[in-house]
Amino acid sequence: MDAMRERIAARLTRARERSDLLTALEDADLTSQVSPLMSPLVWDLAHVGNYEELWLLRAAVGAAPLRPEIDGLYDAFEHPRSTRPTLPLLPPEEARQYIRTVRSMVLDSLDGLREDRLFLYDMVIQHEHQHDETMLATHQLRKEPSGLPEPEADVTEVTPFEPERFVPGGPFTMGTDDPEVYDNERPAHVVDVAPFFIDTVPVSNAAYMAFIEDGGYENERWWHPQGWAWKQAKQAKAPAFWFREGVWLRRRFGTVEQVPPDQAVQHVCWYEADAYARWAGRRLPTEAEWEKAARWDETAQRSLRYPWGDSYLPGRANLGQRRLQPAKAGAYADGASPSGVRQLVGDVWEWTSTDFHGYPGFQVKPYKEYSEVFFGPEYKVLRGGSWATDPVAARGTFRNWDYPIRRQIFAGFRCARSL
Ligand code: AVJ
Ligand code: FE
Repeated sequence: MDAMRERIAARLTRARERSDLLTALEDADLTSQVSPLMSPLVWDLAHVGNYEELWLLRAAVGAAPLRPEIDGLYDAFEHPRSTRPTLPLLPPEEARQYIRTVRSMVLDSLDGLREDRLFLYDMVIQHEHQHDETMLATHQLRKEPSGLPEPEADVTEVTPFEPERFVPGGPFTMGTDDPEVYDNERPAHVVDVAPFFIDTVPVSNAAYMAFIEDGGYENERWWHPQGWAWKQAKQAKAPAFWFREGVWLRRRFGTVEQVPPDQAVQHVCWYEADAYARWAGRRLPTEAEWEKAARWDETAQRSLRYPWGDSYLPGRANLGQRRLQPAKAGAYADGASPSGVRQLVGDVWEWTSTDFHGYPGFQVKPYKEYSEVFFGPEYKVLRGGSWATDPVAARGTFRNWDYPIRRQIFAGFRCARSL
């Protein structure tokens, strides 16, 4: 096997190790549903394998369907998440057997790999990691301790930083033509952005607590009308998983702990982020501002793949589920972008003010249900990836999206302001 095939095999294996770890639970915990927002974990597991079968066996090498009768069950569009526990899903051991069979056939077929199908492998590897992050959000919703390992120590080194950074106005290159990215990140195009200031680090728990203490959740003037309606209906008083016993506590993977003041706030919805920003006399960055702050090198006059450069470097960002929480705001100084903005990639997904749309010249690749069917005003774009995102799915161009009321994802935000 040549180096390219070995690299694909190694990346497939690494994704599967994570999926296995996240589904090393009793059968009942895999088949039950913790929230109507999430699938039973056993659905994610077989769906990952079914997606791999569709794209790496049937599409890439023309293999015959292994179990055509189950395709419909694992089609995310046929069955919304809330209905998935009622489906005749493969039981855990059968699901594991099925995805193992798919995987061994994929590995056996790598010899016939064609250059023009390479991006399908990148897509499938990223897809499994994305479901690993989704499965982790399911774990977080469970009341029981997850038992998941947290192999890395906290990065305690926080070096001094200015509260905000200035990003000069002018054109920059947004998006990319790289073949291995998702279709919604393409094509590269020039966007003219007015000058702005952006927070050097994500908004911390301490800063968010100040908003709460100041009556932020009781004061309608800070809230988008739909956000106020959401907050009233939900009776939200703080980020998800927070509760107060004298001090602010949070439940994190089944363990109750004091909310660490210096970490980035997470489990806030877009409406909470938007209200905080207004209370602070600021606003959420647009998606283009976020990307310019993250990638644009004014001196070199070009956009980088990551804030710190063009190649992934471990230790520059909190990614990959090595810590099961954000780092302190102000850590990872050497992961800063040319604009001096920190923690753009990793830690928490960051809400932007922008609705999810295709870039000018957008072309579906390879199927419209990945991105195109979600384009429209009902979804907001999130950027940067979280501590739960794998490095293969975190880069300066990666776009995520969700409804503005969602809080189960590992999302926070930073603020910006115009001149
Ligand atoms: C990009 C996270 C919104 O989970 O719905 C997984 C990723 N797409 N399977 C999602 C995805 C197909 C997607 N998000
Ligand atoms: Fe999927």
